[in-house]
This record gives sequence, structure tokens and C-alpha cells, in this order.
Amino acid sequence: MQIKWTEEAPRKIQRYAGADYPAENPDLEDVLTSADVDYVAEIFQTPLSGSYNWDYAIQDDRIKKLYDLGKQLNWDPEMDIDWDRPWPAEERAPEMMNLHDYEPYLAMDEKTKDEFWLHMNAWSLSQFLHGEQGALLVASQLCSCAPTLNAKLYAASQTFDEARHVEVFNKYLQQRIGMMYPINTHLKSIIDKILTDERWDMKFIGMQIVIEGLALSAFATARETTPDEVLKDVLYLVTRDEARHVTFGVNYLEEFIKTLTDEEREERAQFAYEACAISRERLVATDVFRHFGWDVEEARKKVLEGFVMSTFRNLLFQRVIPNLARIGLLTEKIRPKFESLGVLDYENLATDGDIDWSVLERPLDTQEAQSYEQTMMAAFAKKHEEEEARVDSAA
Ligand SMILES: [Fe+2]
Ligand SMILES: [Fe+2]
Repeated sequence: MQIKWTEEAPRKIQRYAGADYPAENPDLEDVLTSADVDYVAEIFQTPLSGSYNWDYAIQDDRIKKLYDLGKQLNWDPEMDIDWDRPWPAEERAPEMMNLHDYEPYLAMDEKTKDEFWLHMNAWSLSQFLHGEQGALLVASQLCSCAPTLNAKLYAASQTFDEARHVEVFNKYLQQRIGMMYPINTHLKSIIDKILTDERWDMKFIGMQIVIEGLALSAFATARETTPDEVLKDVLYLVTRDEARHVTFGVNYLEEFIKTLTDEEREERAQFAYEACAISRERLVATDVFRHFGWDVEEARKKVLEGFVMSTFRNLLFQRVIPNLARIGLLTEKIRPKFESLGVLDYENLATDGDIDWSVLERPLDTQEAQSYEQTMMAAFAKKHEEEEARVDSAA
């Protein structure tokens, strides 16, 4: 075992031999074989304030029930997903990304365009993978520092869930796509902040409410848009677990935040806002643009100007905003800041605090993954229509 310590996260794209993706690998000298792989590790320091719990009386409450569900609904990436299904024809989405009239994109030949979309796909899935590793590390910290026994047990079951999520996205990227992108610097900075804060509730707010809330929306969109049945199954199984994690966060924090002083509450509200604001920045695949030699700032602006991206960026907050409202962190002081991000409209949507047990308790059924209702895309289409009607009536 060779461990290579680094000062910061690697910035290079990694490639893996033998993936399902049929195209030849363009720069084969970069392909890793298992003999080349060092364990690349980066140190972070954390002043974690942990706690024992000496009162073993288990309260039979919602948290206990979520823990029990975590045990019952275990799945195995090797057993529950059929990995042998063929790779589908990759879809291009230049309109989605506002690239359909972008000169550097149009100048690519057909083969390079295919490569480009493969890279875009690899980039987003890599961010899912790195985010899952962050969740794994945070969940393990929560075992130590959550103050009640039920929450410690629950955090242990979440830790195992996150381990499977890391496993399944890693396998998908290495086996199916054959390429992995480094972590986006904005995502890395949020995870750093969550891991190194010593207050346990900041970890909960950052991870269970903001990162996992955004992930729920992003996974739903990916599941609706991917042509790959394997990825649909992966996202279905991961999403089921994440729904439990967010529900736990909302239920647990709702009680706790009531016990804080106004000043402490404002501090948490500010922290949640900052995590949301940085998260909006992390959605553009600037590393891919750099790889293809584009002017990164120009391409970034172009993508963000598109109607789809500007709407999608906000749609991602459909889960986070009502949950923040529910736990008491949309304070009067912080509201104008969220208002300027344009996401306060979602404030009164349903929260993940009202538990629909019949949904959470449903047995695993990957058939269901393939016939997924088009919630987010439908919401997007509706907004698009409204926007067009508005433009028409103004004209
Ligand atoms: Fe996860
Ligand atoms: Fe999670």
C-alpha cells in the first residue's frame, strides 16, 4: 500500500481502462492500470467536540423509526443492479446548456462532440461521487458528536448508506464511463467547511439540509434525463436513502434550533445561506471547458445566460428552501439575501419534515426506477411556457 499525501485535491482527469463506453480512448498514455494507482490522500484537521451518551433508554420516536428503516432497506450495488445492460446511445443536449449557437462548440467535429458530452457526463457524476465521500466523512463524525443515542445509531446507519453511495458511483464511473473528474473547487470548499467546523449542528445543517437537499433535486433531474437504465437504477436506490437522510435532518434540527439564542440562530442562517450561494456556483462544468481549450469565463457566462440553466439553478432549491423555513433558519435578517438569489418562491412548498411513511417504507423496486414520474422536468416545462407567454404578451 502506497499512500501519497497531497496538500490539496488533485486537479487531473483520471481515466480507467476497460470501460463500457465504446469509443477509443483518445489519450491512452493517461489511462491508469491498477499497478500505477497510489492512494492519494489529503489531510484535514478538525476540532471535533464529541459526546458519549450514558442514557441508553431508546425513545421510540421518528428518529428511531428512520434508523429501523435504514436497516430494513439495505441494498447492495453488486446484487441489486444489473450492470450488464448495454450502454445506450449517448444523448447530446446543446440546447439544455445554451451551446447550440456557441461558436467553439459548433466548430467541433462529430467525434469531438461525442467526447465533449461524455466529459460533461463524467464531470457531473464525479461531483456526485466526491459529494458522497464528503457525506461519508461527515456522517461518521455525526456518530461521535450527535448528542442523543438515537441520533448516534441513526448516523451509523447513514454512514453505511454513504459508503454504498461512494461504492456505486465509483463503480459506475470506472466501469461505465472510464473517466473521472476532480472535485469542483466550490463543492470542495463547502465540504471543507462542514468537516472542520466543531459544532455538530453546523455539520447537520450543511450536510443534511443543504448538500443532500440539493442532491435530491439533482439526482431526480439526472434520473429523468439519462438514457442509461443502469444509471436510473443507481439514482433510484441512492435517492431512497437520501430522502431518509434529509427527513432525519429536518426532524432533528427542527427541535434543536428552537433551543438556540437569536444570535446563534442568525449564525446558522448565515452559514446555510453561504452554503447555498456557493452551491449555485458549482453547477457549471468549467473544468470540462478548460479541457477542451475553451475560454472558461466566456463559456461559463454563455451557459449561465441560457434559460434552462438559469431556471434549473433555482429549481434545485425546491427542497432546500422549504426545509430551511421549517427548521427556522429563514430568519427576517437572512430573507433578503435568499430573495436576491431568486429562490424564495419555494418557501411554501411541502417540506421533508412531514414524513410520508408509506413512501419511505416502500420496498426496493428498481422497476419503478425505469418508470419515473417527470416531476422536475414538468415543473421546468411549465416555467418555460410561462416565460414564453410573458415574452409574447410583452411583444
Ligand atoms: Fe449519499
Ligand atoms: Fe446522504
